Amino acid sequence: MSRLDSVIRRLSAQRDCLGWAVEHAPDGAVLDLGLGNGRTYHHLREIAPARDVYVIDRHMAAHPSSVPPDDFFLEGEAEPMVEALAARIGRSVALAHYDLGNGVPENDVPLAKAIAALLPKVLCNGALIVANAELEGFEQLPTPEGVAPGRYFIQRYKG
Ligand SMILES: C[S@@+](CC[C@H](N)C(=O)[O-])C[C@H]1O[C@@H](n2cnc3c(N)ncnc32)[C@H](O)[C@@H]1O
Repeated sequence: MSRLDSVIRRLSAQRDCLGWAVEHAPDGAVLDLGLGNGRTYHHLREIAPARDVYVIDRHMAAHPSSVPPDDFFLEGEAEPMVEALAARIGRSVALAHYDLGNGVPENDVPLAKAIAALLPKVLCNGALIVANAELEGFEQLPTPEGVAPGRYFIQRYKG
């Protein structure tokens, strides 16, 4: 498969999983881990207009159309920023999207493990986590039809 085909499939899996999760998550806020260019943040604002959407990234590099308000953007390393969000809103997040990493397993695997251990500090009971990796400690749910197994992940927190 070409890299272009692979990117197209990953992004459409991401969109399909986020769409399903917005429909099935309990009431509460959204947390987008990894602002990047702001594509998923922009999409989440569009598909979940009534929910607060918090975003974490170590730096602001979003397209001008996708810059979160200051109160909803936590700029810094993900681990202390999840702790800071927990101190601010407690366990109010009903849907988390995990899109951190740089594609290098030596970096991404320990990061995913560390964030998976911290997320319960902000997740409400029954919260859904849509992720680019299988995070430890959560119930794995099936992905929507058309999403190939292992391409994107949906998980549930039973806290
Ligand atoms: C794949 S991009 C996110 C793409 C974004 N969801 C979008 O749709 O445009 C990953 C982002 O994670 C951020 N990142 C990676 N590791 C991080 C860490 N340990 N703490 C904070 N941000 C991190 C990078 O700065 C980058 O912007």
